[in-house]
Amino acid sequence: MGHDQLTIMAPLSNADDYRARAKQYLPKGLFEYIDRGTEAELALSDIRQSLDNIKLTPTVLTGQSGCDMTCQMFGRSYPVPLVIAPTALAGLVSYTGEAKLARVAGRLGIPFCVSTQSVTSIDDIRRGAPEVELWLQLYLWRNRDLSWQLLERAKQSGVDTLVITVDTPLSPKRDYNQRNGFSVPFVPSMRGICDMATHPRWLVSVMLRYLITSGMPTYAHYPAAFKTAITDDAVAEDVKIENALGWSDIAEIRDRWHGKVILKGILSVADAIKSRDAGIDGIVVSAHGGRNLDIAPAPADVLPAIVDAVGSDMMVMADSGIRRGSDALKYLALGSQGVLVGRLPLYGLAANGEQGAYDLLAMLIDEMRSNMVFAGVNELSGLRDILIL
Ligand SMILES: Cc1cc2nc3c(=O)[nH]c(=O)nc-3n(C[C@H](O)[C@H](O)[C@H](O)COP(=O)(O)O)c2cc1C
Repeated sequence: MGHDQLTIMAPLSNADDYRARAKQYLPKGLFEYIDRGTEAELALSDIRQSLDNIKLTPTVLTGQSGCDMTCQMFGRSYPVPLVIAPTALAGLVSYTGEAKLARVAGRLGIPFCVSTQSVTSIDDIRRGAPEVELWLQLYLWRNRDLSWQLLERAKQSGVDTLVITVDTPLSPKRDYNQRNGFSVPFVPSMRGICDMATHPRWLVSVMLRYLITSGMPTYAHYPAAFKTAITDDAVAEDVKIENALGWSDIAEIRDRWHGKVILKGILSVADAIKSRDAGIDGIVVSAHGGRNLDIAPAPADVLPAIVDAVGSDMMVMADSGIRRGSDALKYLALGSQGVLVGRLPLYGLAANGEQGAYDLLAMLIDEMRSNMVFAGVNELSGLRDILIL
């Protein structure tokens, strides 16, 4: 029986249930790569705490029975202010995982941001989901010409919105991944092989399926000459992520890109102002889900000052730590105009393929709706008024 057809016996009632299912299904190294933080994992717990500490005061007797979560992002209307965040290697969580996430986004009417480090290429994703709004996340490669080719490919696939990730100059230190034998790119190790062998459902429905169809999964956007199996240690110098990214690079990309440009990973007012002054259309206030700088502030703690400084001039979005609909509402109450979710769609994919990712995001949206109703707020702009500061 394929992964997508698995009959789910235990109820999946919240994100934790999906996470637990993902933990059973995925090799430990891959699960930890998705789930955990970096170094002492302080950022991860700070993000959780910062969201848990936010309260909204309900307004009662509003005479309203429902709420409207429709919103505008970059001048377009959406049913809900959610974006599926870029996540490297989603295609290892489920066979052609990125194509599945694109279809889920299409069903929900929200954008899907494809990672530079996707296992399925943006062209293939587009072929499988002709209608969905795709964004491209860019990790600028050292060889600029190759990056410009990737931008051209994205443009040909109908991408208008480019998300440049600015908070990842290095590979983060993930001690647990050093111990459990998982690395990106994969380096075959006895521990890693045992890990896969002891997760036979994943082995058969993801890894073997790739091996008998397209071969060893690769970073699909790497140019043909450099295309490297993820098992290969030697990623060519040209396609290493630029670790000296600067504002002049941003200016150059801004000039080259025909559509919207978003910088993802902004955590200070000063950088938000520089983004605005560089002609950037939007920023994502993000701690990269607690996966990069472990001593970074939580987005919820810095978001209000950033919104005050630049919120009327540019689109300010936020991510990190959204596990419940109420978490998404909290970022919106703090002034963000949209939120990105990273791990949730991956837990959903692992738990039950495309349907799992859809169900988990639909549950998130239901939770957002019911929290709005409980709070007595009938449109998103009302959330700011009931935030307790
Ligand atoms: C497994 C995984 C891979 C990720 N890969 C990328 C990536 O390739 N590019 C990027 O900009 N962000 C990446 N992120 C960060 C997400 O885009 C997002 O900022 C973060 O996951 C939000 O936090 P959340 O997972 O708590 O929702 C990744 C996150 C995860 C969990």
